[in-house]
Amino acid sequence: MTMDQLRQTCLDCRQCNLSETRNHVVFGVGPEETPILFVGEGPGQQEDLQGEPFVGPAGKLLDDMLSIIDLSRHNCYITNIVKCRPPRNRDPLETEQQACICYLRKQTLLLKPRILVCLGRIAATRLIDEQLRITRDHGKWFQKGGIWMMALYHPSALLRDVTKRPDTFRDLKGLQAKIREVCPDFYDTMTP
Ligand code: URA
Repeated sequence: MTMDQLRQTCLDCRQCNLSETRNHVVFGVGPEETPILFVGEGPGQQEDLQGEPFVGPAGKLLDDMLSIIDLSRHNCYITNIVKCRPPRNRDPLETEQQACICYLRKQTLLLKPRILVCLGRIAATRLIDEQLRITRDHGKWFQKGGIWMMALYHPSALLRDVTKRPDTFRDLKGLQAKIREVCPDFYDTMTP
């Protein structure tokens, strides 16, 4: 299956109740050749309206965070655990995550990322470790199935609590160092 075929299957998905209230499925954006994958929680209001991940206020901050280390949605792939908006931005239910995770698994198989960055607790506990605590474990590196994984605070958390931002700056520098270590050509070949 190609990414376009997977996108089409996902756009037609009716596996959970979120399909009844969505305006758009938010599948993901970015080049398929990238070794870096960012995974958030689920679309918010703006993402649901526009069909693209991280385009609301948290997305603006994510763009700023990425640009600190010369990343952007043009040189890394950005998606979410669930592809449809949970009503009133509540956490996606376990059943909704279960119904949707197959799309992320297939995206990951197609992209074959070297580095996966979880944005916030929901993605980190789903993908890295059920027991992960974001306040304790953000910025730490884990290796799973040949992929280097780490969690950052979710940009929405950084909008609510600016005191978390210095930690995130350090974590971003750690991400940049990991990119240089495991993808030495990245910054030469991928333009921001
Ligand atoms: N928050 C997320 O986790 N994902 C988005 O796409 C937007 C906001």
